Amino acid sequence: MSHSMKHPEKYKPSVHFVKKAVFPSLSQYQSMHRESLRSPDKFWGRIGKGELAWFTQPKKTLDWKSPFAKWFVGGKLNVSFNCIDRHLEGGKRHKAAILFEGEPGDVRVLTYQQLHDEVCRFANALKGEGVKKGDRVMIYLPMVPEAAIAMLACARIGAVHSVVFGGFSSESLKDRIQDCGAKLVITADGGYRRGQVGGLKQNVDAAVAVCPGVRRVIVLKRTGHLEKLNPIDRWWHELVAHQPSTCPPEKMDSEDPLFILYTSGSTGKPKGILHTTAGYLLGAHLTTKWVFDLKETDLFWCTADVGWVTGHSYTVYGALSNGTTTLMYEGVPNQPEPDRFWQIIEKHRVNIFYTAPTAIRSFIRWGDHWVKKHDLSSLRLLGSVGEPINPEAWRWYHQVIGGGRCPIVDTWWQTETGSHLITTLPGVHATKPGSAGLPFFGVDMAVVDDQGKEVKAGVQGKLVVRKPWPSMLRTIHGDSERYAKTYWSDVPNCYFTGDGAKKDADGYFWISGRIDDVLNVSGHRLGTAEVESALVTHPAVAEAAVVGRPDDLKGQAVVAFVTLKAGHKSGSELVAALRERVSKEIGPIAKPDQIRFAEALPKTRSGKIMRRLLKEVAAGGAVKGDVTTLEDLNVIASLQASSGEES
Ligand code: WT7
Repeated sequence: MSHSMKHPEKYKPSVHFVKKAVFPSLSQYQSMHRESLRSPDKFWGRIGKGELAWFTQPKKTLDWKSPFAKWFVGGKLNVSFNCIDRHLEGGKRHKAAILFEGEPGDVRVLTYQQLHDEVCRFANALKGEGVKKGDRVMIYLPMVPEAAIAMLACARIGAVHSVVFGGFSSESLKDRIQDCGAKLVITADGGYRRGQVGGLKQNVDAAVAVCPGVRRVIVLKRTGHLEKLNPIDRWWHELVAHQPSTCPPEKMDSEDPLFILYTSGSTGKPKGILHTTAGYLLGAHLTTKWVFDLKETDLFWCTADVGWVTGHSYTVYGALSNGTTTLMYEGVPNQPEPDRFWQIIEKHRVNIFYTAPTAIRSFIRWGDHWVKKHDLSSLRLLGSVGEPINPEAWRWYHQVIGGGRCPIVDTWWQTETGSHLITTLPGVHATKPGSAGLPFFGVDMAVVDDQGKEVKAGVQGKLVVRKPWPSMLRTIHGDSERYAKTYWSDVPNCYFTGDGAKKDADGYFWISGRIDDVLNVSGHRLGTAEVESALVTHPAVAEAAVVGRPDDLKGQAVVAFVTLKAGHKSGSELVAALRERVSKEIGPIAKPDQIRFAEALPKTRSGKIMRRLLKEVAAGGAVKGDVTTLEDLNVIASLQASSGEES
């Protein structure tokens, strides 16, 4: 990426080992880490037993029939019990569990006791609607406490939730409802974003109209902008009004599904990533505790929407499982002004702040004066996630937000991994701006070549994991063959991440980004194939090829090359129509930044689109904005092919 190269600089190890209860000395940390790799069963067995609350202890730590893993076999537990009930017995009963700030400025605090009562009422309401253990429930809500309440209520009764980010279109929602066979959808009459009321309900109505399997829609009143319900709808507040505030937690098997979360791959429609109960919870719990170095009094703020895995594992499950206070903010960072985040940190005295590099680059662009207006001295730890952080952004984050005193954890992980796999641990490891750090406990990470052989330090290769880990995905919902093929066939006996990386001489990993046909746009994962499919639904489009282009703000921008059917004309009107089409099919986040019309797409003799060439054209193009004239890419293609660069 261009922005990461501007000021190459040697790093200064600036963090020194800090003695703490879990790691009383550096050598004890090291021996624990060694043990976690050498005897993962013994290590995870002990940690799982000590960190989670069980109804029945597991009989066996791991049952591995590659590529299918079962962790904590025979164990019984409940995620909502672990996130709520176990904190009610001690001094945390009246501690804030969720601190919510809406975009208009409304603040709500739910203590653990209140969270318990709300979750139980809603769980009883779900039961009343006929939801049973194993049923799938769709959640399409703004970032409000009820999103967490709905997730925990599902977990309490053993229903499997699938949260869909509110920025996805009704078309995407429909695909996901159908793929996971959901019976019930939870939504709201809207949410506040950018000073406006975002419409979720209309999208649900459109989706549900073609999903006969959905028997009920529960509607949360957030904005008061909905007059009338459809026959299938019920108000959230009416359903919970007379429900008891207790609901016994279902005794779930360690391997019972907890949630399905859809994410983009390099081919076809998004995949339903399936996570189960014990292993996932342990991963989310332990990384939250150790990577964010939680203290009893912390206020933890992860800015991710619960529609993404970061919101699942850190805003909700990891934070609450540890009995910490988690902050949820509904809106965008520049509403009403670009200092909203800093205002929130100052007002509520946030201690730990976890956000994405793309956001950090926006803050830099908006200017330091917005930060300087606020007292950020409550912060003691910063986190970064979602894409490689360029060293300039790292240093700005460290200096301007962290006042030079807060360590930064750059956490590498994926929807599939469930929790952090590469990171530094504060107080234990030195940090290097731009490197995510070192593998977490029990994670056997490596960089390999195309043959699957580990490469030497400093050499670029494929990032793989060589052993199963507790919070790994178990399968792709409804398609175990695709699971095996997508993740476990590229490199023999390894989980292939889709990322390229290199490992330096100190064992630190440097992630270069996706090397498959997946884009990372503002930390959001997007499949080129999905955007292409959306484009060809337009009657004017014959063929489409989508590639990423380095972008200083978003990391990657979406560039689409399009050929038209006979009789159709390129032009700015068609550009607008195509962008709209993608927005309707997938969601506004997928709108191409640039659409380029071509006579033909450059192809190899066997008919494969030469993506590498298109990437170069997209990146090198002096052309700014939409290209509305036809480009003859075949000329470049033939040049490249003759110089042997075809792939
Ligand atoms: C992809 C996963 C789970 C976090 C949210 C995104 C990229 C994630 C980092 C990081 C470099 C990162 C990778 C990965 N990524 N974190 N710290 N440094 N790259 O989850 O949507 O499943 O995307 O995000 O490319 O494969 P996701």
